[in-house]
Amino acid sequence: MKGLYSAVLASAIVGAFAAPSPVEQGPVTARAAMAACATPVTLSGNPFASRSIYANKEYSKEVIAAAASMTDSAMAAQASKVAQVGTFLWIDTRARISVIEDNLKDVPCDQLAAFVIYDLPGRDCAAKASNGELAAGDLTTYKSEYIDPIVTIFKKYPNTAIALVIEPDSLPNLVTNSDKQACKDSASGYRDGVAYALKQLNLPNIAMYIDAGHGGWLGWNDNLKPGAKELAAAYKAAGSPKQVRGISTNVAGWNAWDLSPGEFSKATDAQWNKCQNEKIYVETFGPLLKDAGMPGQAIIDTGRNAVTGLRKEWGDWCNVNGAGFGVRPTSTTGSTYADAFVWVKPGGESDGTSDTSATRYDSYCGKDDAFKPAPEAGQWNQAYFEALIKNAKPAF
Ligand code: GLC
Repeated sequence: MKGLYSAVLASAIVGAFAAPSPVEQGPVTARAAMAACATPVTLSGNPFASRSIYANKEYSKEVIAAAASMTDSAMAAQASKVAQVGTFLWIDTRARISVIEDNLKDVPCDQLAAFVIYDLPGRDCAAKASNGELAAGDLTTYKSEYIDPIVTIFKKYPNTAIALVIEPDSLPNLVTNSDKQACKDSASGYRDGVAYALKQLNLPNIAMYIDAGHGGWLGWNDNLKPGAKELAAAYKAAGSPKQVRGISTNVAGWNAWDLSPGEFSKATDAQWNKCQNEKIYVETFGPLLKDAGMPGQAIIDTGRNAVTGLRKEWGDWCNVNGAGFGVRPTSTTGSTYADAFVWVKPGGESDGTSDTSATRYDSYCGKDDAFKPAPEAGQWNQAYFEALIKNAKPAF
């Protein structure tokens, strides 16, 4: 605290006494005018309707480095276009909180900054690849060292619009994987953690979307109502926060938006799932969420869903081989339930390691339809990134 106080004081003194030279003044003023809005932002309705997503510096850096290492100049040119796509920035550890401000301070008024809140205790309870830094049950650390510091930062930028995806996979895992011991151990921490996040992050300039898996997960006929109940319970436990807009779906996923018949509609179990594509899923689940007492708007990750027919089974989630970048972020979705198509998973970052000796090795990352070799979840996979560009639809 003391250190922070003197740093603030020092910069105030510099600001008061050091008049900028004319050379400095130009660009500084221009930058200040570009960043943020002139007055506090209050989000209501579809936040993506009048704003594009800020191309965060972290993904841009990764992609620019990837382009620089390419020998194929045509592909390098395509990659530099990927660097301009607005994507979500994953705050997947406490340490990662340090990049938030740098990705908030320059966001123009016609854009929004987008982040994924992803550090629940006992994270990724039904798989191994994305197990997190906090032990199941350690809600105290989640609140005080993860959510609270993030809220403090967001409060410093009331003039900047922000969209958040809240804790991918967590509540869906409680609906369908509650027989697994790790999910049992994580259950109360997930419920209380998500509710705490929703309550604390409920600031006027923020729009929140709670993760709802995808059509091949909570879309099964028997999962729809329990799913809506689970999500609505977290929403209500948070005090029905105004800034919750609905759900995110297909995060880091592969499902097509409106392919008909759906990709897995010929599978023997297809009769038990009427949500064979994401469009049907959000239009079916949205009304159920409303019935359960929460808003039902959706954002859908189209970052890697260009190519269908690649997965042997619907549940295959790890580094699917042959995938391509999908539809660019847009609020033109053709569905009143869909606020926007977004890129949540940063394409090129791995879903999980294929190294069978790694602690976080998950057998899904070793399946026939998974790309190999693959580094740890979140780490850059150059070959996979290049394939995403080659297979992109629309092409870059
Ligand atoms: C994964 C990882 C996480 C990473 C995110 C985005 O789920 O667990 O560390 O930030 O994907 O690539």
